[in-house]
Amino acid sequence: MSKILVTGGMGYIGSHTVVELQNSGFEVIIIDNLSNSSIEVLTGIEKITGIRPDFENIDCVDYVNLDRMLESRPDIDGIIHFAASKAVGESVEKPLLYYHNNLVSLINLLQLMPIHKIRNFVFSSSCTVYGQPDELPVSEQAPIKPACSPYGNTKQICEEIIRDTVHAARNDYKAILLRYFNPIGAHPSALIGELPNGVPNNLLPFVTQTAMGIRPELKVFGNDYNTPDGSCIRDYINVVDLARAHVVAIKRMINQVSTANIETFNLGTGRGLSVLEIINSFERVNGVKVPYQIVGRREGDIEQVWAAPDFANKALGWKALETIDDTLKSAWAWEKHLAEVKAEKENGHE
Ligand code: WQD
Repeated sequence: MSKILVTGGMGYIGSHTVVELQNSGFEVIIIDNLSNSSIEVLTGIEKITGIRPDFENIDCVDYVNLDRMLESRPDIDGIIHFAASKAVGESVEKPLLYYHNNLVSLINLLQLMPIHKIRNFVFSSSCTVYGQPDELPVSEQAPIKPACSPYGNTKQICEEIIRDTVHAARNDYKAILLRYFNPIGAHPSALIGELPNGVPNNLLPFVTQTAMGIRPELKVFGNDYNTPDGSCIRDYINVVDLARAHVVAIKRMINQVSTANIETFNLGTGRGLSVLEIINSFERVNGVKVPYQIVGRREGDIEQVWAAPDFANKALGWKALETIDDTLKSAWAWEKHLAEVKAEKENGHE
């Protein structure tokens, strides 16, 4: 059975990828420093797949501990690297935290891979590397533009580090860069999902928490953009669809399907939806209201972006299958699950 190390595997996309890997017959090892996730995610994964992944609380910036962990777990067939700081706004306030965490983690892993004879590497990148594309939909050939945030810049720099490292030691590595668009939704079991720490940065958790009454209202950051309804447009992709792409990517490398040592794929649906469309659809499919107020634009937001997924569809052999309606239903089911868990804990303490 092929063994895959998933860094940041207790996080939102990481945990959903672990489930899909296990469902595909992979043995999974998770390392995560739990800085933006909870150990309870492990139970959620086990409830879904029946297999509790091997887990160690390790920070990828800790070279010595990372080396020890890899030494103790031989025969790893590939690494899927999610562990990184990812809040755009926070990265503007704390750039050094982002450069240190996101770059040192990656460099440690790349240095240790040949030492431990690990060859295959999937990197969690982002459409944020494109900035505001000149043409839409955006393909992998679109120019990389100056990043709008330190977070986006770390993704660009990490991609360059991987490209240069693979080029210098091509027989040591195969790498696939996956550029995500906007991941949303939760596993259909509602046992795992997005667990934002504190006030959510991203749209969907803010929508679901507002619908649940946790937040009084949603602020829509601008309706004066050059879009049909004035609000920003994004390519919202179901997190399970995204997770499945990682399984396809790691299999592609293990089975040596491609002769290329490094490949890049846009993971999107190819469909752009505006903030107001998301709100209206969410209310329609879930039968709830999301009170919102139009406010000023958010610094760093781009106007509109959606993917040209043709290369991922054809070359990778992957396609986003989940509908936006089902995805928005899954997000609401997850928020209701969180409310049930919270109520049980409070009742348990009465
Ligand atoms: C989407 C739209 C906001 C919150 C970033 C990163 C990307 C990925 C996802 C990590 C925008 C609007 C949002 C709110 C709003 N990061 N919005 N009110 O900024 O497109 O992408 O997060 O995986 O790499 O770049 O996502 O969900 O923050 O915003 O109106 O309370 O929703 O203005 O137009 P974004 P987002």
